[in-house]
Amino acid sequence: MAPLDTAAAGLTVTPLAHALGAEIVGVDINQAPSADLVAAIRSAWNRHHVIVFRGQQFEAAGMLRFAQAFGALDDHAATPFYRLEEYPQLLQITNRQIGGKPSETRNTGRNWHSDYSYTDHPAAASMLFCVERPPVGGDTMFCNMVRAYEELSPPLRAFLDGLDVVYDVGLTAGINERDPAKTAEVRRLNPPIAHPAVRVHPDSGLRALYVSERSSHFHGMTAAESRPLIDHLCAHATRPENVYRHVWRPGDLVCWDNRTTMHVALADFDQTKPRHMLRATLLGEKSGFVVG
Ligand code: OGA
Ligand code: MN
Repeated sequence: MAPLDTAAAGLTVTPLAHALGAEIVGVDINQAPSADLVAAIRSAWNRHHVIVFRGQQFEAAGMLRFAQAFGALDDHAATPFYRLEEYPQLLQITNRQIGGKPSETRNTGRNWHSDYSYTDHPAAASMLFCVERPPVGGDTMFCNMVRAYEELSPPLRAFLDGLDVVYDVGLTAGINERDPAKTAEVRRLNPPIAHPAVRVHPDSGLRALYVSERSSHFHGMTAAESRPLIDHLCAHATRPENVYRHVWRPGDLVCWDNRTTMHVALADFDQTKPRHMLRATLLGEKSGFVVG
């Protein structure tokens, strides 16, 4: 697939790191995007895996229309808390109080993961809008799972090509410190599920490693056999040279492809300071088989 001419669509695409990530200038997300604009953005997105739009205004309907131009949206029924009441397709990732209590999404994403890997419809992509951020920190890091896969030795790639890996929502960092009733519901909705350890991107055909810190074991292998390999693959994938670190500004919309990247939300900030974000999630294909 030849990359489209992003310049012809009026876009400037500037890489933000060697491994992945690019800033796109020339888009107002609250204007209905033309088919050509969507195609040009998609082309840059498939190439850079994480794309960043800065200086945007938050408008729920505008963000949803923009997100929907790239595919059907998830209504977040797998984690049915902290959605916007009017717009269940927008999930609040926030340390604001919600319903008189600090939101439990304040600690979302504290280990390396791909969104909704523990469901039967792992997310295709996510778009996160920053409304408010602390004075310093609260950064998010992303790594390139296509490079991670390509940089493995051929025998290890061949071994992983034939494996399924089990995802367990219980391996979400900090889940045991959350409200037991909500946690029980999320576990009930999302029993451990096996997905291919190598995910093939439906547009680009690129093969990407699909193993994370939320993986418990390889299906058919013991935990003892699996653990060192999962740990090795996570360490390999998240080497600093394979990472882009995003320092947020209010008005940023960061979009990541969950099929070709992992991310982690850093707790590198003062939690008494506000951090407020909204996420739209693009539905991925049905995948996997429940193992327990
Ligand atoms: C997410 C997530 C990252 C962040 O929304 O999927 O992991 O930095 N959050 O809040
Ligand atoms: Mn996430």
